[in-house]
Amino acid sequence: MSTVPPTDADAAGRGAPPADGWSPSSWHQRPAAQQPDWPDTAELEAVLKTLASYPPLVFAGETRALQGELARVADGRAFLLQAGDCAESFESFSADSIRERLKVILQMAVVLTYSAGVPAVKVGRIAGQFAKPRSAATETVDGVELPSFRGHMVNDIAFTSAARRPDPQRLVEAYHQSAATLNLLRAFTKGGFADLGRVHQWTQEFVAASPEARRYEQLAAEIDRALRFMRACGVGSEAVPTLHEVDFWTSHEALVLGYEEALTRRDSLTGDYYDCSAHMVWIGERTRGIEDAHVEFFRGIGNPVGCKVGPTATTDEVLELCERLNPGRVPGRLTLITRMGADRVVDGLRPLLRAVDDAGHPVVWACDPMHGNTFTAPSGRKTRHFDAVLAEIRGFFEAHRAEGTWPGGVHVELTGDDVTECLGGAEDLVDDDLGLRYETMCDPRLNGRQSLDLAFRVAELLDDRTR
Ligand code: PEP
Ligand code: CO
Repeated sequence: MSTVPPTDADAAGRGAPPADGWSPSSWHQRPAAQQPDWPDTAELEAVLKTLASYPPLVFAGETRALQGELARVADGRAFLLQAGDCAESFESFSADSIRERLKVILQMAVVLTYSAGVPAVKVGRIAGQFAKPRSAATETVDGVELPSFRGHMVNDIAFTSAARRPDPQRLVEAYHQSAATLNLLRAFTKGGFADLGRVHQWTQEFVAASPEARRYEQLAAEIDRALRFMRACGVGSEAVPTLHEVDFWTSHEALVLGYEEALTRRDSLTGDYYDCSAHMVWIGERTRGIEDAHVEFFRGIGNPVGCKVGPTATTDEVLELCERLNPGRVPGRLTLITRMGADRVVDGLRPLLRAVDDAGHPVVWACDPMHGNTFTAPSGRKTRHFDAVLAEIRGFFEAHRAEGTWPGGVHVELTGDDVTECLGGAEDLVDDDLGLRYETMCDPRLNGRQSLDLAFRVAELLDDRTR
């Protein structure tokens, strides 16, 4: 194990010096947006101390390996598939739910890799995605005003004052659920479940009869034939580990900074600090202020990091973020996750691509086609239309083609389950259908069929780009 908690000797300055004036707690001097208003600060401090004594969830060396893979994405030699829940839940926590999410992501990755011939770097929004930024600090229903729901790491969604009270013990529960989730993901991805020979078994039952599943089955049959051929040539999955197991990485929005600080450890090999709550962490659209706490915290951690970039971001802001978060211009260190909205993506993105490229910043560009396309349907439910999601991805590819930059990946909210949260797709879900199985705690997610459908569409765009 290469990661140890910081010691006094480390704090006194042994090892590599941290980034100029930075420490895991230097963000305390900056304005921190979107933090819970914890009612009991003594309890919070006690919890954070406990968390700081717990083992890291990931190791520094693993995050460096992911950064190496992302460097290949930055360089146009791989594609990033970052996907998972908008908000993970303490309630729907089970082996089945983890496996179903993993299956969809594995299927999507196989579609992308096989159809476009480009390796897919698989990063889940999973094992830590428990905190949500909100547009308002409070919510009022029938004249009653309560704190907004901020994710299960902070409070509960039920509209009662007890449920909405930020409870520090939830930070500990989030840690334990992340650990158990990660443990199962490691077992699934390294223990044979992700073997390419089992590519047929990743289709969910409810998807099996659909046209997307038939298309997937054709592709899986071709993979089978290719594997048979390779085995006949003496190249089996025993000899080639990447046929037998996959690298699957974890990520979340590192929003609640006390939690992230408590899991930040100094790597005994390099002396650098890593946020050991996940392999990759990102800054949300609402917390990317250049002088604010999140950017301050992120600039000093060694993990690969992401930052959302919405339609109001100026080229100057984006260049400052690149300088602040990746002054050494290390490929794979910084992923810019753009979420412009389908109507604005081409015009909004092109100047940013040009400016970042001209400045020589080797970023990964990923398209989040979800968060710029959310609206409230007449039924009152928050939703997104599959066509808008697809339109934003098309616009993303178009902008990159026009600027000669690499459309590095997609960042999507999905679930393996048969939910009815996003409109359209092959089933052509309409507003009246949304009530059938609308299960998300936060934003609407693509269901298993819509996700697989999307993977085929992205693979076509990618194939077109690489030909
Ligand atoms: C999210 O990714 O769930 C999210 C809140 O996104 P954004 O910060 O882009 O609004
Ligand atoms: Co979301």
